Parts: sequence; C-alpha cells; structure tokens
Amino acid sequence: MQLVLATHNAHKVLEVGQILGASLPGLEVLGYDGPEPVEDGTSFLENALIKARAAFQHTGLPSFADDSGIAVEILGGSPGIFSAGWGGTRDSVANRRLLLAQLADVRPEHRAASFVCTIALVTADSEISFTGIWPGYVAAQEQGEHGFGYDPVFIPEGFECTAAALEPEVKNALSHRAMALEQLASYLAVAGAEL
Ligand code: IMP
Repeated sequence: MQLVLATHNAHKVLEVGQILGASLPGLEVLGYDGPEPVEDGTSFLENALIKARAAFQHTGLPSFADDSGIAVEILGGSPGIFSAGWGGTRDSVANRRLLLAQLADVRPEHRAASFVCTIALVTADSEISFTGIWPGYVAAQEQGEHGFGYDPVFIPEGFECTAAALEPEVKNALSHRAMALEQLASYLAVAGAEL
C-alpha cells in the first residue's frame, strides 16, 4: 500500500515511514512535491485536512498530513495552531522566549499545557482524523539539548525534566505524534486494503 505524506520535509517522510512500516509491512510512505496550500484553518484538524486534501488532489493517492503545536491552558489554548510562528518569525528560540515571557508571573500549578498532533487521512471516499494529546506543563526556564520547537520548555506529565532532556527514543515513544501515528497505524491495519 502506498500513502503520501503531505510534507516537503524528506526527514519527516523517512521517520514516519519507519514508524508506520514497523507495524505495517508493505506500507510505503511517499513524499509530496506538489504545491503547498495556504494553511488558513482555525484548528489543527482544519489545517491537517487542508494539507492532506491538497496532496490527494495532486497525486490521486491516499494522503495524510499532520498539524501540531502546543496549547497552553492559561492562554486559552494558544499558541495552538500558531505555535510555529508565535514569536513573530518561524524561529524556535523566539517562540520559546515569548512563551516564557508570557508566563513569567504564572505559578507552577497554573502552567498546564499539552502538545497536540492531529493527523488527517484523505482517500477517494473518506476523510478521517486521529489526535494525540501529550499533557504536561510549561517549565520556568529552558532545559535539555534534544528535540526541537518547544521541547526545551515542555515538561511532560509524570516527568521532572523537559521533553528536550529526554532521550529521543523516549520522547518518540510517548509523544502526541506517537499517539496519533499509533491510531493511524491501527486504522490502516484494519482498513488499509480498502483504501
Ligand atoms: P506544524 O509543523 O505546522 O505542525 O507546526 C508545529 C509547530 O509546533 C512546530 O514548529 C513547533 O514549534 C511546535 N511543535 C509541534 N510538535 C512539537 C514537538 O514535538 N516538540 C516541540 N515543538 C513542537
């Protein structure tokens, strides 16, 4: 079975292909080099659907896309879909700096946040989505050398260190993205042959 992952990021295609391929032998995840649509949705789901639909229209093959970010409770769910550009540019350092500044006076018990990942799968006759939510809270300061984006300021529930201080294999087994991919893999295991 071939599935298109609606991203121009070859590293992501390889990584997701390996994760899904582990439980679904015979699955081939292809990259997408068609036009990138404007992500003007108002939710993770809408943005994931916009990307997956664009890849499906361009390739005619079952296509999926993810949209992800960090949702901070006391900020009403922001940065949310605006996570990638929260600091004014698509720069992770600026994003984290702004988030920590916004929470500077917020006590530890009010710093709840979640990493969220929604995957949309679009085929000739169906659209379906899967969401993973990794709860935790925003740290007081940066910690850790691994990962990307908000990892250095996100402490997952049950841990006393940030996601960036976890070994990548640990994060990749527990994360919002892992949860959403697991759901997609379970769905494909049952419905894959029909797509
Ligand atoms: P997307 O690529 O449009 O889904 O934007 C995702 C943005 O959310 C990234 O640029 C990061 O800032 C943030 N983000 C999503 N997942 C993670 C994660 O696992 N760790 C850290 N930051 C993340």
